[in-house]
Amino acid sequence: MSDSKSQRTYFDYAATTPVDPRVVETMLPFFSDQFGNPSSVHLFGQRADLVVEAARSRCAKALNCSPSEIVFTSCGSESDNLAIRGTALAVREKDGRDHILTTKVEHDAVTHTFQQLEKYNGFKVEYIPVNKFGTVDPETLRAMLTPKTSIVSIMYANNEIGSINPINELGIVCAEAGVYFHTDAVQGAAYLPIDMHEICVDMASIGAHKMYGPKGVGILYVKQGTPIIPSQTGGGQESGLRAGTSNVPLIVGQTVALVNIQNNKRERARHYSELRDILITGVLNNIPYSKLTGHPIIRLPNHASFVFKNVNGNELLMQLDMAGFACSSGSACKTGNPEPSDVLTEIGLERDWALGSLRVSLGTSTRKEDIERFIKILPDLVIKNRKMQGAG
Ligand SMILES: Cc1ncc(COP(=O)(O)O)c(C=O)c1O
Repeated sequence: MSDSKSQRTYFDYAATTPVDPRVVETMLPFFSDQFGNPSSVHLFGQRADLVVEAARSRCAKALNCSPSEIVFTSCGSESDNLAIRGTALAVREKDGRDHILTTKVEHDAVTHTFQQLEKYNGFKVEYIPVNKFGTVDPETLRAMLTPKTSIVSIMYANNEIGSINPINELGIVCAEAGVYFHTDAVQGAAYLPIDMHEICVDMASIGAHKMYGPKGVGILYVKQGTPIIPSQTGGGQESGLRAGTSNVPLIVGQTVALVNIQNNKRERARHYSELRDILITGVLNNIPYSKLTGHPIIRLPNHASFVFKNVNGNELLMQLDMAGFACSSGSACKTGNPEPSDVLTEIGLERDWALGSLRVSLGTSTRKEDIERFIKILPDLVIKNRKMQGAG
């Protein structure tokens, strides 16, 4: 997105996306005259309930699953929490299994949930090693499963470095061992296949604001028969899995966003990957001591991420902002942290590289000219930045 008056270019679609005007339009009546609580028995409530259930059916159709397998949540983070905590606790209660697996390159919504389960609930947590692209090899996963393993959580696509995991193969390894498999699809859902009959997962997390929907709403897909208990208790909404009055306008908005991003997915991916590759080549060819992070091909089509040796990534973001480009150093939640990211450390980057990270993510309004301007200004900013670090 470019704001022509101030020449501001938005290159941070992985952090969040603008809400599609069609989505805004559909939500509006549910903030005003159609305000009923779906749990109320009167007509206002019944109408709201019909709207939520129609939304659930449309989401289910988009994900090729049954409406009863859709749980509406307040965000991707909540979906991650519900899946991991809910299933880990339910399975342990059922058959005593208490070994749970994830990686060190997940979003904090996943890693912090694992850490909490270890610290406060006595679960045995292990981390599956990733390769230099930050992805998991199915045979590495297989070797770590034990008869005590209950749940594995591995992200579909990485938010910081864009790499895509072989999610179906990983899911098959878990299914063969009778282990429940969750994937955080918050970044992947807008660009990758999310047909729940095609990918072998028991649970998948989705967040609307990464796909031109509103913030504050998400989905957890829960395959029928998956043991799970609510992490938020209270009323019986969402089949007892997620207490809290349903947020009708946001649920409706999320549904339209999800249906929209399923249209022309392949064409959009092709369009973005062409732009992304111009960007990657331009950056790597024009900046000495630069590296692409994540997989060069098996990566999100709109996502480019780099490290520059002896560069302060946080300062580079400020320089870029002053030059009119809104980028990120990786996860939006971690911007400003002076320490190298866990993801970059985990894929083996030395500190003098890992501190100089940059994520550029493209979206509906990105034009080739934006990328060309970016490639022109970035090399000078990197030179200045290196001088500031005394490495010029
Ligand atoms: C991979 C991943 N998982 C989870 C989240 C959290 O999603 P939300 O902001 O909807 O809570 C994000 C957001 O950046 C993400 O990139």
